Amino acid sequence: MVVKPHISLIVAAMAPELGIGANGKLPWRLKQEIKYFRDVTSHSGEGSINAVIMGRKTWESIPAKFRPLPNRLNVILSHSHTNEYRDGVLFYNSMDSILDAFQRDNYKFQKQDINKIFIIGGAQIYNAFVTDPRVDSLLLTNITFTGEASETPVMDTFLRWNLDEWKRLDSSRLKNLVGVEFTEGLIEEGAYEYEYTLWERK
Ligand SMILES: NC(=O)c1ccc[n+]([C@@H]2O[C@H](COP(=O)([O-])OP(=O)(O)OC[C@H]3O[C@@H](n4cnc5c(N)ncnc54)[C@H](OP(=O)(O)O)[C@@H]3O)[C@@H](O)[C@H]2O)c1
Ligand SMILES: *[C@@H]1O[C@H](CO)[C@@H](O)[C@H](O)[C@H]1NC(C)=O
Repeated sequence: MVVKPHISLIVAAMAPELGIGANGKLPWRLKQEIKYFRDVTSHSGEGSINAVIMGRKTWESIPAKFRPLPNRLNVILSHSHTNEYRDGVLFYNSMDSILDAFQRDNYKFQKQDINKIFIIGGAQIYNAFVTDPRVDSLLLTNITFTGEASETPVMDTFLRWNLDEWKRLDSSRLKNLVGVEFTEGLIEEGAYEYEYTLWERK
């Protein structure tokens, strides 16, 4: 039996404007958050793998020595890609073309099951697909800046999400979905506080 993988958007955003980027990079460096992202997106059952789908600019924002993201099937979207597998990466030209290809192959890739699909940004991708009914959940790290107001990070990239259409689930549901250990409740790191949250459509 073919089980359709769970599809989520995973993002770290700063309240209240849901800022996510500055100058093509992340506005902050949060070590525990990076580990959470790596653990959650990497964790899949024995003999299976997760896919991470990202826009071309987010791919380019990852230093060359850190990409493709290890132990995950990396998919890069650009309108000029020609839907090919090269250098260990899937280069596709639309969300439909990659999701259809996964489905056609019964959610298998090189004999491994695709366990979960994570859409990992950036803003163009998040904002276009938050309303896509194929997306099952949002994994949102809700960041607050707690430092001096004059040092508030300046951001140029924001989520345009209407969270009124979503409801927050509790942390036991998040645990169930991700299957890895993480800190529940507020985490303090430098001049930031943040919390890992899970949302489903109302
Ligand atoms: N805080 C977070 O969790 C987080 C996560 C990821 C990224 N970010 C930040 O977000 C920023 C980058 O976001 P961005 O909006 O500028 O770029 P992006 O979404 O990463 O990439 C945009 C590019 O992806 C391609 N693309 C977008 N939609 C497509 C579609 N429907 N079909 C095919 N290709 C498509 C296009 O490539 P072509 O122009 O080649 O056609 C487009 O120029 C950076 O600052 C990054 O650090 C933050
Ligand atoms: C994020 O956290 C702040 C501070 O606790 C809270 O006011 C806000 O409602 C939260 N936003 C989301 C989307 O959970």
